[in-house]
Amino acid sequence: MAGPGAMAVSWVTHPEEDDALALRAGVEVAATIAQDGAWEGHRTLSKHHPQRTCEALARQVNSLVRYGTAPARLASAAEGNRTCYASDDYSSGTLHTVLLGVGEGGPLAPNTQYFYMVGDSDGAQSEALSFTTPPLTGPESLPYRLGLIGDLGQTENSAQTLEHLTASDAASVINVGDLSYADGYQPRWDSYMRLAAPHTQRVAWALVEGNHEEEMFDGEEGWVAYERRFWFPSAQCGSNTPFYYSYEVAGAHVVMLGSYAAYLEDSEQFAWLRRDLASVDRSRTPWLIAVMHAPWYNSNEKHQHEVDDMAAAMEPVLYEFGADVVFAGHVHAYERSYRSFRGERNECGPMYINIGDGGNREGLNGFLDPQPKWSTMREPSYGHGSLLLQNTTHALWQWHRNQDAVRVTADEG
Ligand SMILES: [Fe+2]
Repeated sequence: MAGPGAMAVSWVTHPEEDDALALRAGVEVAATIAQDGAWEGHRTLSKHHPQRTCEALARQVNSLVRYGTAPARLASAAEGNRTCYASDDYSSGTLHTVLLGVGEGGPLAPNTQYFYMVGDSDGAQSEALSFTTPPLTGPESLPYRLGLIGDLGQTENSAQTLEHLTASDAASVINVGDLSYADGYQPRWDSYMRLAAPHTQRVAWALVEGNHEEEMFDGEEGWVAYERRFWFPSAQCGSNTPFYYSYEVAGAHVVMLGSYAAYLEDSEQFAWLRRDLASVDRSRTPWLIAVMHAPWYNSNEKHQHEVDDMAAAMEPVLYEFGADVVFAGHVHAYERSYRSFRGERNECGPMYINIGDGGNREGLNGFLDPQPKWSTMREPSYGHGSLLLQNTTHALWQWHRNQDAVRVTADEG
């Protein structure tokens, strides 16, 4: 979701042949599209001047999306931007992003199914895909279902979580971070994108960074893959960084907070959060949802007290502005709190839900005893969540475990 009536579409094109690439660059570039399932695996670019080759390739293809409301007639087209990154033994391919609904054709119609093809008609194009645009922002657009997933990775458990999430039929998805677990081995980003693409190409996904998005690349620690592969609506909400931003959908204002950007009272993020929350019109978006990677409420054996200073700074802000629910991950298990504030049950505080149970290769984490008074439900099982915003006063949270059929609810509140 890229603002009112706008959607961002991202994809990757890879060179068809690599051995002769240095010679071919600048002459012709054939590409296959990662999203259509036809792409056959990671190819390595020339070892000579790889960044230059990667950039030369990016100049040879267009970032084009054709789209429309009938699959047989994609009457509109939009162009966008592309980038790439490379080291001596890896190239990302060309990473494209196109914003639909912001150009001459005007905004996309709300709550409407659009069909689209990505790619360059001179090279290769995807098949016709489709997504449904969000409804107009406002309480009249409720009910609305959000899907929640975290710490996904790319194991068989991850694949099952994705299948169950898609079966939940959420209108859009929030991923609370730790995506590919590439951990510096870049081809894992390619395999992760192939795993996720059948799910991300049909509904909008909003991402927040996890610690695994910071990784070594070409001898330096950074966020290269995360920043270049994904698009964030930061400029639309007065944030100048992909690490924290907000967006509105249906009757919800969603604040994505950065656990790995400065967050104390003297930080830019803190000032932005206060500004952003002060601008929220609760008659328009009655639901206020906050999302971050590292949890403030956590009784798991893992990741205790990692962000106590973030909670000390920001928890009073979310409380003051009446946040309804706060999602996090990082811990590989499920946990839900009662409404809480400052470590105690408090009916005016938000509910805290840790949903880092997507299924990555690190496995599940157990809990400390005794269970704190603020914690109402906790379990080390893989799964995903679904938040149905029913009307302006009632919402239904459901946690679905992978070992259950998707219609079974393991926790509800
Ligand atoms: Fe994490």
